[in-house]
Amino acid sequence: MKFSYNTTVADFGDASSVLIPLSADLQLTASLQLADKLLAGAISAAIKSTDLNGKLKNQHLFLNSGAGPQRILVVGTGSSDKLTARQYRQLQAGAWSAIKNNPGTRVHNELCLAVSDHLSQPDQVRLAVETLAQSEYCFDQFKSEQDKQEKAPTNISIIAPDAGEQFNQSVATAGAMNICRDLGNLPGNICTPSYLAEQATTMAANSSKVSADILNEAAMTELGMHCLLSVGKGSVEPSKLIVVNYQGGKKTDAPHILVGKGITFDTGGISLKPGAAMDEMKYDMCGAASVLATMQAVIDMDMPLNVIAIVASAENMPAGNASKPGDIVTTMSGKTVEILNTDAEGRLVLCDALTYAERFKPASVVDVATLTGACIIALGHHTTAVLSNDDDFAQDLIKAGQESFDAAWQLPIGDEYQEQLKSNFADLANIGGRPAGTITAACFLARFAENYKWAHLDIAGTAWASGKAKGATGRCVPLLVQHLVNQI
Ligand code: BES
Ligand code: MN
Ligand code: ZN
Repeated sequence: MKFSYNTTVADFGDASSVLIPLSADLQLTASLQLADKLLAGAISAAIKSTDLNGKLKNQHLFLNSGAGPQRILVVGTGSSDKLTARQYRQLQAGAWSAIKNNPGTRVHNELCLAVSDHLSQPDQVRLAVETLAQSEYCFDQFKSEQDKQEKAPTNISIIAPDAGEQFNQSVATAGAMNICRDLGNLPGNICTPSYLAEQATTMAANSSKVSADILNEAAMTELGMHCLLSVGKGSVEPSKLIVVNYQGGKKTDAPHILVGKGITFDTGGISLKPGAAMDEMKYDMCGAASVLATMQAVIDMDMPLNVIAIVASAENMPAGNASKPGDIVTTMSGKTVEILNTDAEGRLVLCDALTYAERFKPASVVDVATLTGACIIALGHHTTAVLSNDDDFAQDLIKAGQESFDAAWQLPIGDEYQEQLKSNFADLANIGGRPAGTITAACFLARFAENYKWAHLDIAGTAWASGKAKGATGRCVPLLVQHLVNQI
């Protein structure tokens, strides 16, 4: 799917399919009048007969055998006070499914001209591009030829007079979300720490503003990252610390850093997880996927900022040489950690990455992780958790989430919760008991992020969907891209 952008609605050009909104007040816009003419009055007849009523979910596909586009889809957008972002997504997805089997090569999409009290035209463009890219997304690279979906190259022309700037961000974001989905959906036997490192190296090779630095286990040992290294000990796949450095700003500009949890498979280690749905732990690198994908959006948008992605990547396996409950390791910061549960491994890899981030004297650091099952209990699958050592920064990220329709909400991180991380034998324990599991996980990370402005995003509930629609969602790429745009 290729997107292009047009400000004019004068005619339908050489489009093969045209999508036109019809609001509940049944006003015949210029486009509807033109389409009605091409269809010899069929649209006004359909309105008269109430087949078309302008309400949400009411749409009709007209086939045109004469001049102009072969397909004209009229889509009800309801009344302007009712049309919300969720409904708007359904509207674009519903329109696409009506024509997707035969869209032709050029689709002229005027649905961003819908009248809504809640959604501006730039909002609609963002939702349209993301929804259409998602509707077309299909992860079938491991299916045999006969099972693969035919994908005709379709050019979608988005018509919106007032949304030029938002268009570029939307296309970059939608593309990055699909990169994020692909990385997430790849199985653990392919998407290993070394595979993620290769993606970073390729990204650097394709852009003059990007360099990639891959730290192997020897380099990490040298730096004292024994906590990160303890997680991958039981795996035959070597752990990696992946650093992608984008220089789009002045040399002296402090960088914005994104840190991703890249556990390419989380068995739980010696604290082994139960078998049911364990396959979904291939998604335990979705934090890494979202920060690498966001870097691609940064490159595509040529952002005038310095941005660094750091991915802490390992495979968490049980083995004769794996970490055991009770083991004590020394982090890069010098603090010691008692590993009471080897399944709380995300914080063990992230803490050393957070310490490593200090050397860049960052303007801000955001880490992204599928960190706790408790986050799903707290916020379900709709909202990402934000925890921060700076309440204003937490609010900035929540706002970035609102602007990008990628919801996030703050949880507290007060000192009183630190009590739960006390260890009898080391500086801190890696688990804090059942109460407030998402908060104590963030409290652990906070101990390694004391020297800069930091926030943690727990995407355990939002990074992928289970069940029949199993697959990575691409969240929280929109929030991260918007966060960086807001720094420009
Ligand atoms: N990757 C998991 C968190 C997770 C579990 C995300 C299920 C999404 C779905 C993480 O490494 C983990 O296992 N966390 C433990 C922490 C506990 C041992 C303190 C958890 O949440 O159970
Ligand atoms: Mn785990
Ligand atoms: Zn994990």
